[in-house]
Amino acid sequence: MATYHIRRCGRLSGEISVHAAKNAVLPLMCAGLLTQEPLTIEHVPQLTDVHTLADILEDCGCTLRQEEGAVTLWADEPRSPSGGDLLSRMRASVLVMGPLLARTGYARVGLPGGCAIGQRPIDLHLRGMEALGAQVQLTPGSVTLQGRLRGGNVYLDFPSVGATENIILAATLAEGVTRIENAAKEPEVTDLCDCLNAMGAHIAGAGTGAIIIQGGTELHGCTYTPIPDRIEAGTLLCAAAMTEGSVLLRGVRPEHMQAVLFKLRETGVALRETPAGLRISGRASQPVQVRTLAYPGFPTDMQAPMMALALCLRGTSIFMETVFENRFMHAREMARLGAGIRIEDRIALVTGGRVLSGTDVTSTDLRGGASLMLAGLAAEGTTVLHDPCGHITRGYADLPGMLRSLGADITVHE
Ligand code: EPZ
Repeated sequence: MATYHIRRCGRLSGEISVHAAKNAVLPLMCAGLLTQEPLTIEHVPQLTDVHTLADILEDCGCTLRQEEGAVTLWADEPRSPSGGDLLSRMRASVLVMGPLLARTGYARVGLPGGCAIGQRPIDLHLRGMEALGAQVQLTPGSVTLQGRLRGGNVYLDFPSVGATENIILAATLAEGVTRIENAAKEPEVTDLCDCLNAMGAHIAGAGTGAIIIQGGTELHGCTYTPIPDRIEAGTLLCAAAMTEGSVLLRGVRPEHMQAVLFKLRETGVALRETPAGLRISGRASQPVQVRTLAYPGFPTDMQAPMMALALCLRGTSIFMETVFENRFMHAREMARLGAGIRIEDRIALVTGGRVLSGTDVTSTDLRGGASLMLAGLAAEGTTVLHDPCGHITRGYADLPGMLRSLGADITVHE
């Protein structure tokens, strides 16, 4: 896997377009299991996670074509996946559960591996399926669900993105009305509902805490363009802010990023929404307090990139990670660069303004790896970022290339 050599750079500047959102594209691909007609998803980013899910969906009986950045897929005879190792490689693979159960009355899926950032249980997914009439049987390393689904009422103890998406996917074909209370409000969930409605589903309340699905109608294909990636956009904004750069992001949806934009403005940078896109400029200097929350709160996926920016702020910034139990691993690697970060359980105190010196660091997870690439932009000398598990290319189509196009000095060594 790749190693990145990052050298301190001057101000990033220029214009760049963001890709379609990874966390929208993955559930949209799983919607292909619900129909025998072609679903075309446009502008799909070249990500390892997309390729892995494509393999899983083909294993589930999908016919899948990829051409000119679009993915077209459908399933004449969906079936449970055979390859256990594939499922454990990617959390989002759990989203084949709902569509398979709804289409065939049966689903057997490997339990998705936990990962570095937390145990990642799927109890809320399973409780949702039971509320729709499925019998659930847990076996070592996998779970089997069976039953003819019918509409039901679901309350989510936590507004889980994946559980909300899985239940929506299942409920579209379940006879009757399904109501999800305390549903996730993330834009990616709304994007899935918009696509499913374009396929003939009847879903109301997307983006609110209460989603109602009138199930039972057969779904047809459609051509759909996913929303832009708010986390990729936020990552690029943090990079620009760290270098006092002036960058225009094209194709972003600022309304999906209000918490991040507010926190960035608190550091002192200027953010302007223009007809051409979102422009960031000026110097980030003031420390911030960040509490990660479910949407519309500050996104947990932006915690690590924002911590990289905090290394450059004058004073102590405070981060409270309330969503995942182990999402500060990048802090240990940042400390190797000379960062002053103190972790107390789910709170990190970041002393900004220290001189950072390049050295060898290792990517700990997707967003942690990206934050270390950003930290290298502000470190003296060369930062060598090892990414043996390929975390960064799982979730960013070409982060080093995007940063290089804005003036960063990054070379990639396979
Ligand atoms: C999605 O993961 C995203 N992934 C994550 O992005 C993101 O961090 C997360 O939502 C929160 O916004 C995709 O969309 C593919 P959750 P998901 O279910 O669905 C607990 C990235 O970097 N929980 O909302 O797995 C769970 O342990 C990735 O792009 C249960 O307890 O997140 C966690 O503490 C990382 N039981 C919290 O809820 C369950 O059944 C949030 O998880 C499900 C979740």
